Amino acid sequence: MIEVLRDIADEVSAALDSSDRDSWGDDMGMGADGTTTNRIDWIAENAVLSALERHGNPFNVLSEEKGFIDMNREMTLIVDPLDGTYNALHGIPFYAVSLAVSEGTMKDVRWALVRNLISGDEYTATRGGGAFLNGRRIHTRRYDSTSPVFSIFLGKSASQRSLLLASKCKRIRSMGSAALEISMVASGASDMYCYCSELPDVGLRIVDIAAATLILREAGGKVMDKKLIMLDMDTDVRKRSSVLAIGDESLMKVIY
Ligand code: IPD
Ligand code: CA
Repeated sequence: MIEVLRDIADEVSAALDSSDRDSWGDDMGMGADGTTTNRIDWIAENAVLSALERHGNPFNVLSEEKGFIDMNREMTLIVDPLDGTYNALHGIPFYAVSLAVSEGTMKDVRWALVRNLISGDEYTATRGGGAFLNGRRIHTRRYDSTSPVFSIFLGKSASQRSLLLASKCKRIRSMGSAALEISMVASGASDMYCYCSELPDVGLRIVDIAAATLILREAGGKVMDKKLIMLDMDTDVRKRSSVLAIGDESLMKVIY
């Protein structure tokens, strides 16, 4: 199954490489998630759909732009064809394709792949089978309070908790691709990812985090909501949630 996801990611990567960058920002109308679809999102999503067609449409699809496409299959591919659209459009080289296959909601994801479309780094996981970066097994790192790295969504929509967490940590990153930032907690590159807001319309969608959530859980970490309860999300692209993802249980005392 990971091979199928890899083939889909290859098609997204090839489609973006052969497209005209100057047109990436064109407005293609409103996506199913209620935000604008840019041409780059549209190119990436069409690449996913055409790869799926080559494979005989083995899944239903839940995608950020087109929403739910019912193929009368048991499993659903939860896709963000491009996570980090703002980065891609503004020359910030940090964005990804995120692919997760689920037989239910987010907690039921069985296979996941997140690919950094700039570096080519590829995070994968199979439920019960561990998480991998470029084919090598990965594990979260042990929290060392003397040299932590937290990845935190900041700015005017961020919650007080986010600002407080940032003030407790020597090294902060805020990079604009939730799928990659959570995957980096899985590989031990950072200790924590926090995207918390008090505003009801600010939060991450299932398409942004479904794949990275399995990758982090398989690497030994936890993904929670802002009440610090294990996060599950329905297969609905319009729902948003705050997200706290940690690599090591001992970070719970830092969050409280
Ligand atoms: C975005 C990224 C980003 C987060 C935004 C999301 P998109 O996804 O995950 O990290 O800060 O809230 O919308 O829109 O580029 O798929
Ligand atoms: Ca997207």
